[in-house]
Amino acid sequence: MDIKEFISKIPKAELHLHIEGTLEPELFFELAKRNGISIPYTTVNELRSAYQFDCLQDFLDIYYKGTQVLIHEQDFFNLTWAYLTKCKEQNVVHTEIMFDPQSHTDRGVAFETVINGISKACQKAKQECGISSFLIMSYLRHLSEESAFEILEMSKPFKHLIKAVGLDSSELGHPPSKFQRVFDASVKEGYIPLAHAGEEGPTEYIWEAIDILKIHRIDHGNRCLEDEKLIQEIMKRDLALKICPLSNKALQVVKDFKNHPLKKMLDLGLKVTVNSDDPAYFGGQLIANFEAITEELNLSKDEIVQLVRNSFQYALLSEDVKKIRLEELDKFLAI
Ligand code: HPA
Ligand code: ZN
Repeated sequence: MDIKEFISKIPKAELHLHIEGTLEPELFFELAKRNGISIPYTTVNELRSAYQFDCLQDFLDIYYKGTQVLIHEQDFFNLTWAYLTKCKEQNVVHTEIMFDPQSHTDRGVAFETVINGISKACQKAKQECGISSFLIMSYLRHLSEESAFEILEMSKPFKHLIKAVGLDSSELGHPPSKFQRVFDASVKEGYIPLAHAGEEGPTEYIWEAIDILKIHRIDHGNRCLEDEKLIQEIMKRDLALKICPLSNKALQVVKDFKNHPLKKMLDLGLKVTVNSDDPAYFGGQLIANFEAITEELNLSKDEIVQLVRNSFQYALLSEDVKKIRLEELDKFLAI
C-alpha cells in the first residue's frame, strides 16, 4: 500500500471541524437559490477565487457571509450530511463537530432549527454508516460575555445533544479570560470546556485557556512552541493539540509550510492531532491535510499512525468506545 492509499484507508477521527466551514460553493449556491437570497457572486469559480486570505479576520468575514444561506432545519441537515458523507469516503469513523449558534441566532434563526438539523444528520450517519459524532457549541469571542450567556441559556433544553463548549472567531483582542464566567457556568451544565488558543494569539492566551477556562484540549495552539514553560505544562497536563495544517497555510498563521510546527511538536512528544478546520475554504478535507504534511514534513508511516492514534486517544469518547476504536485501528495496521 503506498502512502496515499494508507492515509486514505486508515480509520481516523477528526477533532477540530467547524460545520459552517464545510459549506462548499455548490451547496452555497443551491441554498441561496432555494431560500431566495441574493448573493454577490454568479459562479462557483468566482466565489472560490474570493478565498484568498491574509489573516484569520479576512477569512472570518467571508465565512460569516456564507452562513446567511442557512435558514431552515433542512439546510443545516444538508450541510452536515454533506460533511458526514465525506467522512465516510475518507474513513473518518468519529468526528467532533463545532457549530457557531450565535452566527445563526443573531440573524433570527432559532437555536432549535440549527441543532435539530445538525443532530439529525449525525444520527443518520451513526445509523447508516457507523460514524459517531459529538457536537461542540462554540461561543464567538468577538461578541460579548452577555451574548454567550444567552446562548448557554438557549442550549439548555438540548443539553443531551451537546458534549462540549468551545471558543472561536477573532482571537486577537479577545483573550480567554473574557469568558471565564460563562465557561464556569457551562461546566456546571455538564459541558466539557475547549477553546481555540494560540492560533494567532500570543502564548498568554494559551496559558489563560488552560489555567482560567481549564480546557481539556487546545484548538490549534501552534504558538506554544514560543514558551518552554508552557510546553512543559501542556505535557504535564496531557493536553492534546488540534492542529489544522491547510488552515494554517491558508490563513498565513505559518509563513513557511516546510517549517510547520507539527513536526517539532511530534518530536517533543506533544499529543498532536491533524484536522481540517474549515475544509470548504482551506483547500482540502482531512485526507488532504494528512497528505500535505506528510509530503512537506517528510513524515514517516509511524508518525502518521501516531497522529491517528492520538485522534482516538484524545477524542471525547468514553474509555470503552475509545478502546474499541483503537482495536479497530490495530486490526487495520495488522493487515
Ligand atoms: N479560528 C477561529 N475561529 C474560527 C476558525 C478558526 O480557524 N474557523 C471558524 N471559526
Ligand atoms: Zn477552528
